[in-house]
Amino acid sequence: MKTTIQDFLKKKKEKQKIVMLTAYDFPFAQIVDEAGIDAILVGDSLSMVVQGLENTLPVTMDEMIYHTKMVSRATKNAMVLGDMPYMSYQAGIEDAIRNGGRFLKEAGAQGIKLEGGREVAEKVRALTISEIPVMAHIGLTPQALHRMGGYKVQGKTEEAAKRLMEDAKILEEAGAFSLILEAIPAELARQITEDLTIPTIGIGAGPHCDGQVLVIHDVIGLFERFTPKFVKKYANLKEEAVKAIKQYKEEVEKGVFPGKEHSF
Ligand code: KIV
Repeated sequence: MKTTIQDFLKKKKEKQKIVMLTAYDFPFAQIVDEAGIDAILVGDSLSMVVQGLENTLPVTMDEMIYHTKMVSRATKNAMVLGDMPYMSYQAGIEDAIRNGGRFLKEAGAQGIKLEGGREVAEKVRALTISEIPVMAHIGLTPQALHRMGGYKVQGKTEEAAKRLMEDAKILEEAGAFSLILEAIPAELARQITEDLTIPTIGIGAGPHCDGQVLVIHDVIGLFERFTPKFVKKYANLKEEAVKAIKQYKEEVEKGVFPGKEHSF
C-alpha cells in the first residue's frame, strides 16, 4: 500500500520518524522501495548527481518528468514526489499548476515539492486547491544559490530565524502537507517542528524534525564532488563498482571470462 499524506500526519502525531530518500531511476527506486523508505523525492538534485551539472538550476521540467516516470514505475509502497525545477513555478500560478499537474498526470507522482517561503504561499494554495499535494522547502533552498551566495547554513541570526518560523506557519496555512527544513540550526528546526501540525523533514537540520531526507548518491557513496557536513555515508558503492569492473576487465584480457558456464 502506498504511503499517503494521512500516513505522514499520523506518524507526526504518534512521534514515529518519517524516512525519505531521493531516487531518479527504476533500479534505485526499486532498492529504496524494497528497503521500506516512506517517500521518494525525485529531486532536482539529479541535475548534479545524475547529469553531472554544476548546480540544480539547469534541469528541465521534461527531464524531471522522464525521471519521475521511471521512479513511479518501480515503486510499490513509497510515496513519490516530483521536485519542481527552477523556473517551472517562479513565473506565476498558472505555470505552477500546469507543471505541478504534469507530475501527477504524466509521471505517476502523488505530490510535488517546491522551494521558498512566504513568496510561494499563493502558489502552494493554488496547487493544493488543484488537488496537487505540496511539500514545501525552506532554509537552504538550492535554487536560490545566487541570492544566498553559496550553499550556506540559513536562519543563524535572530531575525532570519524569526522569518523562517513565520514562513513555516504561512506555508502550513497555505496547505502544504509537509515541510523540508534544509541546513538550519537544530534548535530552530525543533521550534518550527513543535509549532506546526504538519511534519517537518530535515536535511542538515538536526535530530528534532519529524523525519529526515538525504540524497541517495551521498548515502551510498556515488557522489564525490563534495560531501556536506550533514551527510552520513552508509556505503561506498563507487569503490565497489570500480573494483568489480577492474576484475571484469582483467578476466576478459586474460581469457578467464567468459568461461564454459557462460558459453553455449
Ligand atoms: O533536490 C533534492 O534532492 C532536494 C532534497 C535534498 C531535499 O531538494
